[in-house]
Amino acid sequence: MSTTSAPREQWASRFGFILAAVGSAVGLGNMWRFPYLTAENGGAAFLVLYILMVALIGLPILLAEFAVGRGAKKSPIPALVHFGGRRWRPLGAFFVLIGFLILSYYSVIAGWVVRYTVEAVTTGFPAEPGAHFGAISTGWSAVLLHLLFMALTVAIVRGGVRGGIERAVVVLMPVLFLIVVGLAVYAATLEGAGAGYAFYLQADFRELLTFKVLNDAAGQAFFSLSLGMGALLTYASYLSRDENLPRESVIIAGSDFAVAFFAGLMVFPIIFALGLSEAVGESTIGALFIGLPEAFNQLGGPGRVVGVLFFAALLVGALTSAISLLEVVASSAIDTLGWSRARAVAVFGAGIALAGIPSALDLTVLGLLDQIVGNVFLVVGALSISLFVGWRMADPAAEVRKGAGSLGWLPAWRAFLRWVVPAFLIFVLFFAIQDSVQAVIAELAGG
Ligand code: TRP
Repeated sequence: MSTTSAPREQWASRFGFILAAVGSAVGLGNMWRFPYLTAENGGAAFLVLYILMVALIGLPILLAEFAVGRGAKKSPIPALVHFGGRRWRPLGAFFVLIGFLILSYYSVIAGWVVRYTVEAVTTGFPAEPGAHFGAISTGWSAVLLHLLFMALTVAIVRGGVRGGIERAVVVLMPVLFLIVVGLAVYAATLEGAGAGYAFYLQADFRELLTFKVLNDAAGQAFFSLSLGMGALLTYASYLSRDENLPRESVIIAGSDFAVAFFAGLMVFPIIFALGLSEAVGESTIGALFIGLPEAFNQLGGPGRVVGVLFFAALLVGALTSAISLLEVVASSAIDTLGWSRARAVAVFGAGIALAGIPSALDLTVLGLLDQIVGNVFLVVGALSISLFVGWRMADPAAEVRKGAGSLGWLPAWRAFLRWVVPAFLIFVLFFAIQDSVQAVIAELAGG
């Protein structure tokens, strides 16, 4: 497959790989979606369910992607062909398409974050965040910000695995951790923080009795872990054989969860300390750009500092996720078309930038893409990889054992990928498709 003769790049250190993978996982999903879902769906009770989902569904798929990626040491398309034959090419191409599409709109949202961060530093938060968000979130200013963010992503990925991605994440990710933990500690000192914690975590086990909650928890678990489109598969392809895959999987999933959990510990006390609890009612991304800025405004001087830090952390999360999305597309072009990295990144970066313009001009496009790609395509991708490693790949356990020793539970892992994970994902898919069809119909009827 590969037409380049240069040996495949590798991470400079185990630490660099872990931070890159955590960087992919930690993003907008952690900083807003997770806290919100938890608060809405039974607090601590949801937390328990979520941890179960990560452990029982997320981790097995994560390990499956790692086994395929490191086993083949190739990007998704040739990696699937390597273990499954040419019939699996379309699945690899589907992964690349998902990466392309997600990045096209993820970058639009990230563009808003760029704007808020810059404005927070230079002029402070807008007096009327609602009107401000309405003005900047669509139209040509949104296009410009989207292009700016894409240019930044392209510049980093162009530098390669070590010189670009790893160099960026070893600086950015520790900054993100520090900010999130620091702000959570600060939030604890606010008067009224207790009401925020109560809203976030008060256990209500009755909420768990619906299928919808199960579905939400599962969807969030692997959206947050960046599963289902080969991002972590691609990152694992740059690993050496003596890396312990199960251990790294647990570290990555644990860090992703920790950031999401701490995000809730900072967001809710801040909102509640200011009596802005209605702001939480808006489930959309809008609350992030309207409700919280309003809180930062009301906090006065410290609010500005807190707000700058918060949006900076959000920006880091979005950037390190975007990097991994572009890497899937770029490494595929390098491996299958024989292109140089510079060319792959330039051509596909430009393509993604163009494809994102409709999302920047019309929030409906962005919302529908997110609904369909984020919910349906990712679940189909995760289901496929589970079936692939469960049934098609000859001996995935052998790959996992390299660097990890003989692990008694590996047969159980394979059985999980064969039966439990697919059954569960088919169930989730059923709800996701239903939701998407409804969203499209509502749009058609309304628009
Ligand atoms: N995990 C990211 C977040 O929490 C979003 C995401 C989903 C993602 N799938 C991805 C990022 C694939 C990179 C690659 O915001």
